[in-house]
Amino acid sequence: MNPLERWRLTGKTALVTGGTKGIGYAIADELLRLGATVTVAARTEADVTDCVAKWRSEGLNPRGMVTDLSKPDAAETLIASLGDSLDILINNVGTNVRKPTTEYTNEEYRHVLATNLDSAFALSRAAHPLLARSGDGAIVNIGSVAGTVAILSGLPYAMTKAALDQMTRYLAVEWAKDGIRVNAVNPWYTRTPLASPRLADPAFVQRVLDATPLKRIAEPEDVAGVVAFLCLPAAHHITGQTVAVDGGFLAQGLA
Ligand SMILES: NC(=O)c1ccc[n+]([C@@H]2O[C@H](COP(=O)([O-])OP(=O)(O)OC[C@H]3O[C@@H](n4cnc5c(N)ncnc54)[C@H](OP(=O)(O)O)[C@@H]3O)[C@@H](O)[C@H]2O)c1
Repeated sequence: MNPLERWRLTGKTALVTGGTKGIGYAIADELLRLGATVTVAARTEADVTDCVAKWRSEGLNPRGMVTDLSKPDAAETLIASLGDSLDILINNVGTNVRKPTTEYTNEEYRHVLATNLDSAFALSRAAHPLLARSGDGAIVNIGSVAGTVAILSGLPYAMTKAALDQMTRYLAVEWAKDGIRVNAVNPWYTRTPLASPRLADPAFVQRVLDATPLKRIAEPEDVAGVVAFLCLPAAHHITGQTVAVDGGFLAQGLA
């Protein structure tokens, strides 16, 4: 193989859930520029249409699907709409409801679990035949450092992210025989619409910076670069790993 081919995704097909905003948009953009055909899936039709039009105008190869992945059967319907080819699945979609544990309604709890965890489980299962047929399949789950330490995220969100870490390890082992690698990328605070209410509070931002050795808030591209690497042929012996994109947050104790 030409050494540069290890750093390209030419001819690959990818699905990025939540690929119209924030981290998901940056991941889709990166995979497209590396040569992949990328389907982005989200609920807001206008965003899906706008993203696809923008990327097409740049000569890239995007597709769009409008779907609510918190709903039962949405994952299976989405995978069925892709046709017979999928090499890369990015389980990025995520949401949060942040409050003290005793104040969650059952509906709020179920919504966070359905969006963040059930969708990744259902999509991975539904995509398995296509990823196995690829012979070089890759799944990247977007978790969070909230799955490792308590960071005022709210408990249901933290539970879903911890579960994604274990789903990553378990599927990496179970599906290695099928040629499917499974890894996770776990961000700390990143400038996206999801994080913007928290990042609008300067006092809170200062607390985040104090806890972050690299002393900056991540941009979505910081996460997207690592996700793209894990999808490349260059990463073909990496599976079952969780990579924190956190500016050193998890490494810091007393500083
Ligand atoms: N930002 C951070 O600081 C941070 C830190 C750690 C981990 N993360 C994780 O990174 C991932 C992306 O977060 P983000 O900050 O980029 O979020 P975001 O800015 O809120 O973007 C979320 C994306 O997912 C889509 N989406 C949300 N609910 C959906 C549903 N039910 N069905 C289909 N699409 C849905 C949204 O589009 P529609 O609204 O149109 O559906 C949007 O494209 C999440 O898993 C999050 O937990 C983020």
